[in-house]
Amino acid sequence: MAVNSNDMMSTIVSLAKRRGFVFQSSEIYGGLNSCWDYGPLGVELKRNVKDAWWRAMVTNRRDVVGIDASILMHPRVWEASGHLSGFSDPMVDCKKCKERFRADHLENLDKCPKPKCGGELTEVRKFNLMFKTFMGAVEDNSATVYMRPETAQGIFVNFQNVQQASRLKPPFGIAQIGKSFRNEITPGNFTYRTREFEQMEMEFFVAPGEDEKWYEYWRDARLQWYKDFGIKPEKLRLRDHEQDELAHYAKACVDVEYLFPFGWSELEGIANRTDYDLKQHEQFSGKGMAYFDDETKQHYHPYVVEPAAGADRATLAFLVDAYDVEGEGKDERVVLRFHPALAPIKVAVLPLVKRDGMPEMGEKIYRDLLDNSIKSFYDHTASIGRRYARQDEAGTPFCVTVDTQSLEDQTVTLRERDSREQYRVAASELVGLVQKKMRDSMK
Ligand code: GAP
Repeated sequence: MAVNSNDMMSTIVSLAKRRGFVFQSSEIYGGLNSCWDYGPLGVELKRNVKDAWWRAMVTNRRDVVGIDASILMHPRVWEASGHLSGFSDPMVDCKKCKERFRADHLENLDKCPKPKCGGELTEVRKFNLMFKTFMGAVEDNSATVYMRPETAQGIFVNFQNVQQASRLKPPFGIAQIGKSFRNEITPGNFTYRTREFEQMEMEFFVAPGEDEKWYEYWRDARLQWYKDFGIKPEKLRLRDHEQDELAHYAKACVDVEYLFPFGWSELEGIANRTDYDLKQHEQFSGKGMAYFDDETKQHYHPYVVEPAAGADRATLAFLVDAYDVEGEGKDERVVLRFHPALAPIKVAVLPLVKRDGMPEMGEKIYRDLLDNSIKSFYDHTASIGRRYARQDEAGTPFCVTVDTQSLEDQTVTLRERDSREQYRVAASELVGLVQKKMRDSMK
């Protein structure tokens, strides 16, 4: 049965809740707008997305190192970065229903766009997107700090520390994964736009003049990353920013977009941030931010190419893209076709019946998989058909069935999620085989 794209998001949201991918935050209190909690399957999926990013951006490269900076930073950081003065959206409030709207999203600024309201709107005002809080016991202006709206600044202020500690020379990068906060005026589309989210950012420092070459390199590499982890190529595209769309720090920016059920939307931006940030921090902190090139004996401020992705958005795209409904009537099955590296559970161990020594053999296989750090699941309830269906819907790439023959010859049936192909393998070779299949899926 084909799923209408209009219904697709509500189908995904209800599957996400039912199977424990994503729950509404504080649900028992009626929920908190735009805040979401990842459940047992969701937290594994998102961790796998972040691990896949970290491997591609840091572990497998000689020219990128990581950091983990604090969320609260010195308030001067946000003056220097331009976020205090520039990081704002134009907004209007409806005087009647009190709802707030992005002015640049409205066609008509005369009246409230809600058909049943039509109330008068306020003047357009700038609304800073940074969350404010207070540090220490006294809540006055001198104690105001901000929740970071991007992880990037934690990297810029540590440029000298990291460069000197790691002795890397441009071109080199510093990567970070962590929470960011923005008081978005119009959050929505499930986990797509939220006020608390996780970013996966990398700042790549290059000699001036080499920035355009690296910009193209990272644009292509980042698009490829989504394809490597299984996103359908026809649902991905690159979109260059127009001059008037560019952030205050950027010379050029291109978005990797995904065709969500609600339309083409940004997954990640790759920006050429020039030497803006390092020079701003030099000016505001009074500390030198230039790099000294030993060979030319010259100081220069590196240019920065920044691939900036969202862990929640990427996770949502992988979830939406994996969703498939196959067959009809009683043969219909819902299957999440996750790339094996991203799948929350890799193997489900399913004894055919709950007697005759099958559970014991299943338990042993399960233990063996866990001891080898293969996230697995054991289930001996319900019919085998229903158990396969549950695993298909969780996106588990491999199911292992223990049956009567297993007790005789120590073999088990391995079932592959996508093809539903089944074949027998020696129980003693299972771990090695799964590990090989996981490795092969990365090639
Ligand atoms: N350092 C540059 C920067 O932060 P951005 O385009 O504003 O650039 C980068 O953010 C990525 O962070 C976005 O492409 C998106 O994936 C994610 N992101 C930004 N705002 C978000 C929000 N409100 N909810 C979820 N993800 C968000």
